[in-house]
Amino acid sequence: MNSELVLEAKGLAKRYGAVVALAHGDFGLRAAEVHAMVGDNGAGKSTLLKLMAGAVRPTSGELLVGGVPVSFSSPRDAQRQGIATVFQNLGMIDHLDATANLFLGREEYLPVPLKWLGILDKRKMRAQAVEAVGRLKINVRSVDALLGGMSGGQRQAVAVARAAAFGSRAVIMDEPTAALGVRETAAVLDMIRHVKAQGIAVVLVSHRLDEVFAVTDRITVLRRGRTVATNNTADVSREDVVGMMTGAFVPSI
Ligand SMILES: Nc1ncnc2c1ncn2[C@@H]1O[C@H](COP(=O)(O)OP(=O)(O)OP(=O)(O)O)[C@@H](O)[C@H]1O
Ligand SMILES: [Mg+2]
Repeated sequence: MNSELVLEAKGLAKRYGAVVALAHGDFGLRAAEVHAMVGDNGAGKSTLLKLMAGAVRPTSGELLVGGVPVSFSSPRDAQRQGIATVFQNLGMIDHLDATANLFLGREEYLPVPLKWLGILDKRKMRAQAVEAVGRLKINVRSVDALLGGMSGGQRQAVAVARAAAFGSRAVIMDEPTAALGVRETAAVLDMIRHVKAQGIAVVLVSHRLDEVFAVTDRITVLRRGRTVATNNTADVSREDVVGMMTGAFVPSI
């Protein structure tokens, strides 16, 4: 019944020794939806996100991609299945340009025998970078600009482009606007809309309910390590969501 889900967490749990970081995480991501994951500090959002991203292995529970159970050993594993993640530290390199950062970990090489010498096909990568940035309408000034000289918003743009550009079915973002100003936040939200328009699903972990309501189709609330509810964004108010986060309001679903 859930075969329409791109990515699904079913009762995922993660313990660190005696600490239960996540007791029961349920999350179903539909194709081409923007789906928020919200919750108070320590609710288990980052833990659930890391489990879905392949960065951490669950203690128990199930993870499915397109209805098929998977077991990720690393974010690279997840990426191969079309699940890409923009982590909070972005995982990029300042002294490389935007193109090189887009291709980190999946560089294109010139044909053999030059490939054996580790010689990169920079022209091909640049052309693909220009194409990806254009298709996703991503606000990167130049694919040749060094990352180190970019603003927080531009760096975020390159990280999102990297996650969404190469055959991804889903992009998971951990608080992408946390460090950004008003204008840059608006640009990131636009980028999320463009990613969705390409048919790619987005998981947005955010503390900011205004942006959650501005850009998402559905909202999943976590509280004290458990998924409380998933609702259509249009069906709930801000007060409802705050109530679910704090435990004051439990919806009947
Ligand atoms: N590696 C770890 N070792 C021990 N405890 C951990 C670890 N990671 C998370 N926890 C604990 O698990 C709980 C959930 O943490 P998590 O980071 O998932 O919450 P969060 O919802 O992302 O919170 P925030 O909004 O503050 O980012 C917290 O109590 C945290 O201290
Ligand atoms: Mg967190």
